[in-house]
Amino acid sequence: MAESSGRAGGARRIFSGIQPTGSKHLGNYFGAIRQYVAAQEEGEAIFCIVDLHALTVPYDPLRLRSSLYDLAALLLAAGLEPQRCILFRQSDVPEHSELTWLLACLTELGRLQRMHQFRDKSLTQRELVSAGLLLYPVLQAADVLAYRAEVVPVGEDQREHLELMRDVARRFNARFAGGRQALVVPEHRIPAVGARIMDLQEPTRKMTTTGGSEEGTIYLLDCESAIAKKVRRAVTDSGHEITRAPDKPGVSNLIEILAAARSCSSEEIEAQMASARGYGELKEAVAAALCELLEPIRERYGPLRSDEDALEEILAQGAAKARAIASETLADVRALMGVGAPKRRPSGDPATVAQ
Ligand code: AMP
Ligand code: TRP
Repeated sequence: MAESSGRAGGARRIFSGIQPTGSKHLGNYFGAIRQYVAAQEEGEAIFCIVDLHALTVPYDPLRLRSSLYDLAALLLAAGLEPQRCILFRQSDVPEHSELTWLLACLTELGRLQRMHQFRDKSLTQRELVSAGLLLYPVLQAADVLAYRAEVVPVGEDQREHLELMRDVARRFNARFAGGRQALVVPEHRIPAVGARIMDLQEPTRKMTTTGGSEEGTIYLLDCESAIAKKVRRAVTDSGHEITRAPDKPGVSNLIEILAAARSCSSEEIEAQMASARGYGELKEAVAAALCELLEPIRERYGPLRSDEDALEEILAQGAAKARAIASETLADVRALMGVGAPKRRPSGDPATVAQ
């Protein structure tokens, strides 16, 4: 269980990162964003828009900037409040890049080559499989470890990345800190419901921004008629029972979506739907629940997105707070790894090197 903690005051530090690529969808919301919003109630919540991760596959610089504002506005519209969390842009805090290099020197190459995401994404790159794509999980480890965060809310697809960052932290502590928790070994937090939302058209594939079907992906900013249409056309099967089963991936996914939207369990949905006349009724319920859930987000989004200066201000203030935390960790990491000038006591006496 927890090898971590030790922070004064007992407040848990919660950290997560999200890529500023494409339009965010229902999977992102249930798997991640909704957990971020809840984390603000619980402890010190820190959220990073990871623009450096977005450079690992081909991208357009102008679009990256505008997608970053899209995502910042969306996160605020979904309920992040700058007074209650730290929201910042990864590239504004150079400590992430520095720690990536330091940790890369502790990370086994073969392990990175075997990571699922690297294998999948490297197969789809036509022009260049960059070293950045290989190092992606190390940058992700640096994101979290720089803040000594205890909890990382993510969707199911991030499990392997979390395992790697835990191992890197443990290796650092063993190699450089005599087993002391100099870097906190973080725990993932994967929600019980909604951790892996599937594509409505191809319910054996997860809903994604890239590579999924337009028709099968519900974007958080989709209007009501688009939501209703996509849900109505969702692939089901020839039966009519509203229960989850391995050979009913479409219906199972709709049940999971409804459970996530109503914040209850899939078993409860199955019980509630026991007397339904067929899949049409399930689809109606899903569409209604999603419209109700997403309407307030869509309404808040417009005004937030249109004021880029205000978004920049929020991100700049977030980065200043983030940097204050990350730079302390980096000072410790540098000292422990033996790089940079030795830390000196305030007296300036070079003989008294602090450890
Ligand atoms: P990304 O947009 O790839 O940066 O993902 C942001 C967050 O959304 C991560 O925590 C992912 O695990 C989560 N996520 C992405 N796709 C899904 C999905 N289909 N179901 C649940 N969570 C997801
Ligand atoms: N790799 C994550 C994703 O694709 C994004 C991410 C980057 C992240 N840094 C992180 C998630 C740190 C959690 C913690 O969704």
